[in-house]
Amino acid sequence: MLALDGGLDAALREVGRAVDAMMDRLVPAVPGLEAPVFEAMRYAALGPGKRLRPFLAVASASLFTVGRIPSLRVAAAIEMVHSYSLVHDDLPAMDDSDLRRGRPSAHKAFDEATAILAGDGLLTAAFGVLADEATHSDPAVRCELVRRLAEAAGGHGMVGGQMIDLVAERQALDMGAITRLQRMKTGEMIAFSCEAGAILGKAAAEPRHALKAYAHDLGLAFQIVDDLLDAEGSEAETGKKVGQDAARGKATFVSILGLDRAREQARMLSRQAIGHLDLFDQKADLLRDVARFVVTRRS
Ligand code: IPE
Ligand code: IPE
Ligand code: MG
Ligand code: MG
Ligand code: MG
Repeated sequence: MLALDGGLDAALREVGRAVDAMMDRLVPAVPGLEAPVFEAMRYAALGPGKRLRPFLAVASASLFTVGRIPSLRVAAAIEMVHSYSLVHDDLPAMDDSDLRRGRPSAHKAFDEATAILAGDGLLTAAFGVLADEATHSDPAVRCELVRRLAEAAGGHGMVGGQMIDLVAERQALDMGAITRLQRMKTGEMIAFSCEAGAILGKAAAEPRHALKAYAHDLGLAFQIVDDLLDAEGSEAETGKKVGQDAARGKATFVSILGLDRAREQARMLSRQAIGHLDLFDQKADLLRDVARFVVTRRS
């Protein structure tokens, strides 16, 4: 198993290294005329991100009896979908951001068409990873992973949230609508990351619901902090352009609540997330630490 007992920073690094090694194998460089799309897929997926979602998948799986390879394959599939969402999010037709993870965005390092295809390639490959026998010997488990990822990433999840996010640039949204938008665009993939560990471990309904409730609050706290960092963070720390939400007149928690109340809301959600983990013993301490990290992070 992965060594996850040296504190959160060490555990994040350890999972980051292992999931990157897995993605390096799952998304290899390919020769031939199609080489650029594979190069762009690798550029996007292996770029220096926090690997928070893979970490959540591995940490959740570690609460149950799940092997190293299944949990890393699922973690890699999740990061591949997340990386695709960032590539498309940065495109000129969406947020028009030239900087991602401290480097030129994929459409700048390559070109727009290659970036679109690289996103498509990562998304499609992720489902292939989940469906492969190496991910779990039980086909029912593989099917459930595929179905839940499709829900989390699709029109009722991340993609739908991204649509509402664009609407939020030209239409005033109230707290309820913004909460729904954030839960869809960010919360659903974070929820799947936590749930995936429980699916792999064939967990009982009660721990599974507890993880879901934890992830629900964590995802919202995470996105509120993303909006706070856009308003008051630095390009050097976040590795992406800041001040973009305000420049686009986008409705966010920060635009509605202001900085202080948004920060307080994120802290409250983080505490609430930790509260949902009461039925787990100290094995869930890393998940408790992640909830604290999510609201203190600077990147
Ligand atoms: C950024 O996600 C996009 C959002 C959903 C807010 P992360 O902050 O996890 O980005 P990386 O993976 O660390 O680059
Ligand atoms: C994007 O949200 C969330 C995705 C699903 C990719 P943002 O547009 O706020 O993410 P950043 O700030 O560019 O990372
Ligand atoms: Mg966006
Ligand atoms: Mg963006
Ligand atoms: Mg943002």
